[in-house]
Amino acid sequence: MPDSVRPRSIADLPPQTAAAPETAAQGRARFFNPGNAFNVILPAVPDVAFTAEPARALDPATPTGLIPCDISDVLECPFPATSPFVLASYGRIRAGESLAMDVAASGIVHFVIDGVGSTVSGDETIAWSKGDVFITPGGVPETHTAGAEDAVLWIVTNEPQFAFERAQAPAPGTAPTPVVHYPAAEIQRQVDLIYDIGRGQEIPGAAVIMSSDMQVESRNALPTLTVAMNTLDPGVVQRPHRHNSVAVSLVVSGTNCYSKVDGRKKMWSPYATTITPPVAVHSHHNEGDERAFFLIVQDGGLFYHARAMGFAFVDA
Ligand SMILES: [Fe+2]
Repeated sequence: MPDSVRPRSIADLPPQTAAAPETAAQGRARFFNPGNAFNVILPAVPDVAFTAEPARALDPATPTGLIPCDISDVLECPFPATSPFVLASYGRIRAGESLAMDVAASGIVHFVIDGVGSTVSGDETIAWSKGDVFITPGGVPETHTAGAEDAVLWIVTNEPQFAFERAQAPAPGTAPTPVVHYPAAEIQRQVDLIYDIGRGQEIPGAAVIMSSDMQVESRNALPTLTVAMNTLDPGVVQRPHRHNSVAVSLVVSGTNCYSKVDGRKKMWSPYATTITPPVAVHSHHNEGDERAFFLIVQDGGLFYHARAMGFAFVDA
């Protein structure tokens, strides 16, 4: 190679190809090096709150349908995504109407923001009402039907994780979760139990973690997703901490609450979906006068399995 065209560093080399490929497969090979392969800069997961999407979902003028919290353009993902591995959407279902879904994900997490209705998943039916959480297996078509009034659901999946690997939906009967229902009154009973017994400050929050008989060993809802109803009493600050999982959270209730994420204050608003970026130092604050509730979905199962959760308290 003449000196005039010789790169000064291997970092300046373009992708290399075989000099004399003998087959089409050899012709497809590309070669990089530590100088030009490890400097791909992906956009950071932003510290954002979605407020327009819940406003639209709660607007009586909005027709039945799914409203995704999709920032795939920001994340530069070629598929809808709220975070690299998680997609949150609002489902509005007008009274008496139905919303059908069939997703390539290992499971679907639902929270009932408003209304009464039912969901058919395979041969099981769940009758739900406001405040319920229910989880259904991916790869099984499901239909949500609202009762006499309009209903709004918060719906979270790991579809981006499947899309990233071009994975197909699990075959019927093979998803890693059954249909699981956590009625609002039972969630409240579990929250009360936690407050009755109390905890030390080494336990990072007053939350109910939702799992199932099938996932009891993992303590997760799905192999890669964790689901928790977190709570915060008036005047309480949840101790600052960080973890490598992203949190996609729904503000369920509470007034005058906010999060601090890497020093920035982010006010809560009713039924907003908020992202806590991975690794960011964050704390939650309740300066109102009632117990606050927020439902958190994290891709924590991925990091637990990789032995790379990276949880740490970061006290100021
Ligand atoms: Fe956290």
